[in-house]
Order: sequence, then C-alpha cells, then structure tokens
Amino acid sequence: MAQIIKDISRTFSEYLILPGLSKKKNTVENVNLGTPICKFKKGKKSRLTMNIPIMSACMQSVSGPDLAIELARQGGMSCIFCSQPIESQVEMVKKVKRHKAGFVTSTINLKPSDPLLKAIRFIKETGHSTMPVTDDGSDSGKFLGILTDKDFWEYEDNLNNPVKNYMTPVERVIWGKDGISLKQANALLHKHKKQCLPILNKKGNLTHLVFTKDFVDHQNHPDELLDNEKRFVVAAGINTHDYRERVPALVEAGANVLCFDSSDGYTEFQKEAALWVRKKYGKKVVMGGGNVVSGKAFNYLVKEADLDFVKIGIGGGSICITREQKGIGRGQASAVMDVVEARNQYFKKTGTYIPVCSDGGLINDTQLILALAMGADFVMMGRYFAMTFESPTKKISIKDKLYKPYWGEGSNRAKNWKRYSEGGSKNKLEFEEGVDAYVPIVGSVKEVLPLTLSKLKSTMCNTGTTTLQSFSKNALITLVSEQSFIEGGTSSVVTFDQTRLDQDYLG
Ligand code: IMP
Repeated sequence: MAQIIKDISRTFSEYLILPGLSKKKNTVENVNLGTPICKFKKGKKSRLTMNIPIMSACMQSVSGPDLAIELARQGGMSCIFCSQPIESQVEMVKKVKRHKAGFVTSTINLKPSDPLLKAIRFIKETGHSTMPVTDDGSDSGKFLGILTDKDFWEYEDNLNNPVKNYMTPVERVIWGKDGISLKQANALLHKHKKQCLPILNKKGNLTHLVFTKDFVDHQNHPDELLDNEKRFVVAAGINTHDYRERVPALVEAGANVLCFDSSDGYTEFQKEAALWVRKKYGKKVVMGGGNVVSGKAFNYLVKEADLDFVKIGIGGGSICITREQKGIGRGQASAVMDVVEARNQYFKKTGTYIPVCSDGGLINDTQLILALAMGADFVMMGRYFAMTFESPTKKISIKDKLYKPYWGEGSNRAKNWKRYSEGGSKNKLEFEEGVDAYVPIVGSVKEVLPLTLSKLKSTMCNTGTTTLQSFSKNALITLVSEQSFIEGGTSSVVTFDQTRLDQDYLG
C-alpha cells in the first residue's frame, strides 16, 4: 500500500515570524544580504556569493539580457533560459558579459567610408551613441577616429556623406595604452573630461573602450555582482538532453553558473549529466540542479550528482498546472523545511554546506521573507520579474491597463518539453504543465526590488539579526489559524483601493 506521510503540505501564507529582541545595532543600514550560491566546507567561503538572495527564473518570458544586467547591478542574478537554440542562449550570455566590464569590447564599429546613415541605424538599434572608426570596420581594426551623435545633425547633414568627414580623428582623440588599469583609465577620463576612452595596442589597433558612465554607474550601485574581470555575473539554464554541446558553449561564453532547469530533478538523467559536467570542468563551474521537494531527493542529488546548490519546488509556480495535470508536488513551505532539515544534517555529518533555493510560488514579499527565514539561502522568482520593464516581453494594453505576457516553460507556447522529460522517451505524448497568462506591469526592477529588500531588512531587524545566516538560525516561526490570518488583514475600514473602485464604478 502507498505510504502516506504524516506531514500536511503547507504553504508560506500559513506562517508568521515572531519578533525577537532588536538590539541597537539592528538597523537596516547594518543588514548584509550576502548569501552563498556554491557549496563550501565549514570555515571556508563559498566560491561564489550573491549580494542579495534573489535569482530570476529560467524562463522565456522572464530572464533575457536586459533583466540579467539590471538584476546583477542590484546584486542578484538571472538564469538565462535554455528553451532556445544554443547559439541564441550563448549570445544572450555574451551580451550580459559584454555590457559592463570597465573595459568593453566595442559592438558597433564603422569604416571611414560608411555613410552617416549606418551610424544612425546603429544608434537607433542599440541606444549607444559612441562609435569607433577602424580601417576595416571591426572591433579590433586599426583605430582611425571616433564618431558620436554630437558630431552631425541628422536633419541637416547629408546622410550619405562618409563618417570620416565627421569623426574626431585619432590625432585628436585621448586614448589609453592596452594594459593600463581601470583606475588609470578612469583617471584619464576624469582629467580630460571625456565620456569614452578607446584603448589601443602597440600597433594602434582598438582593443577596448572605457566609459565614464560605467564608472558613475558603479558608484551608484555598491551591491552590483561582478566577476574577477568586473563583468556582470550571470547564470544559464541547461538540460539533460543537449548538455554535451550546450555546456561547453555556455562556459566559453562566460556563464558563471549553470543550473539544470527541470520540473523534477530526482532522476538518474540529471545525475548522469551533472557528473559529465563535473568530470569535464571540475570546480571551474558552479552547477545547480533540482527541482526537488524532499530531503531524500536533496541527498540523492548532492551525494550522487555532486551539485553545488539545489533548487526546491514542484507545482507551486504562478503559471504552473503540474499538480492539476499529474498530481505531483508539495506545498512550498513543507518542501523547503524538509530540504533545509536534510541540508543541515548533511552539514553536521560532512562539514559541507550546500546552499538551497526556494523556486516559484512566491506571491508577495512576505512569502519571500518566510522562505529565507525557513532556511532557503536564496529564492528564484518568475512572475515577480515578468511584471517589470526589464523582462523580455512586449507591453500589451488591455482595457486601458498595461500588462505583459507571462507563460510557463511547460506551456505550449514555450514548448520546453526538455524541462518535463528528463531524457527519456522521445515520443512523449505532450500535455501542458503551464499556462499562458498576463501580468500587470509594476515598473522597473530598480524601483520594485529595493522595496522588497527594504521589507526583508526591516523584518530581519525585528528578529534581532543582521545576516541571512543568523536570520534563518534564530527565526521563531508560528503556524497561523484561518481566523488569525483574517485578523492580519485590514478590518472594518474602507481602504484606498475600495474608494477607487467605487469612483471608477460611479464615474
Ligand atoms: P513564479 O515565481 O511563481 O512565477 O514561478 C516561477 C517558477 O515556476 C520557475 O522558476 C519554475 O521553477 C516554475 N515553472 C516555470 N514554468 C513552469 C510551467 O510551465 N509549469 C510548472 N512550473 C513552471
């Protein structure tokens, strides 16, 4: 007979955190949201940490380069979706890595004979306004000059004229020698009051560009998540089907983290694929996997597949219909608590700490806070980011309100069947495990994320903690009854929203 476990599948909304003694040092300014993403031995540091405990979901309608750049700037990380050809995923990873390095490889370059029209097209396509001119129009050709949008008037000049008539020639350009440090490059920009510094090698060929705006940007974002070469950190999804081709291409492109994107990772397929990656790259890659909902599955992936972190969650995602379709899954709070318990036991026994991620189903900031209080080292979210300007989808107006489309990886639209068939039958009769939906637009990541983080920090202060590690260690959590849940909302007052609704109705 099937075994029925005693535990009831519970969700985060059923819990509350009790305040602990807040000491004088417990102010939001003192809170550090740094969190590990890669396994580490007791007393040692994780090879990679995030500055905020948030990763965006590996989904077509969520994690493209624009979001990855903005989220890394805020201290978190995106997982670029793998339900696309290897080449286009690689191109997205490269776009993130190129975006900001201090030293950037120029992506829009001109030849002296190119017409101004070409420069205008570049400006419109990329939003950038500075273009080096090289003898062959490549990013490493002999540097001849620089053209910016201030050097010509689009509506006055003859746009068929060659750019050489308008560029600032190399003799009048301030440039840096290949090999100078970023600090020296910024000092040159500052001294000469320039916006862009081309870097040239001994032969006079272009190697990089350094921009003043990147320096300013860095000062404004002290939490930004950068690699050793000062490029943004980014993760990329992988699957158990084409990993032999996809993984080398992503590593080559500079992906800092690889993560198996699977609805159920408790499989021999994931083990086999992970061991292949480990054998080829050793500790050079940070590799996560999942998803799991039990301590048993966690132990399997950690012991057998040698993963660096494990993701938790089946069936809780906002666009997910896995539970309805197949009857598998588990309440996200129960899943997190079970896996965290197994992780802590594993740490006690082996001295190795494995970070875990709560993936999907967080419908508000409170749930995110609870996931971290229950011991998740970071969370992964889809809907939250799908609603921002930076997600890769187009805005849509429905009845005068702005929305963005948001669809599951298991929906027919995403056609990410690899996420749902770990490597088994190729003739699977397909059925959907996700829906195709819309979400309202809430603004830019740079507006919504600070608010969420500020609530998290405030709760941590209430519990008398300043690090996520001590937060989950000390949090006192209570189960709430349905009645006390109602008590937690507003009662017997007219809220602002209600007033607006009435006005809309009357008006
Ligand atoms: P959300 O933050 O609640 O929107 O959930 C996002 C998470 O749902 C992702 O990170 C995936 O783990 C999961 N997911 C993505 N697409 C699907 C789907 O089509 N069906 C079920 N789960 C999905």
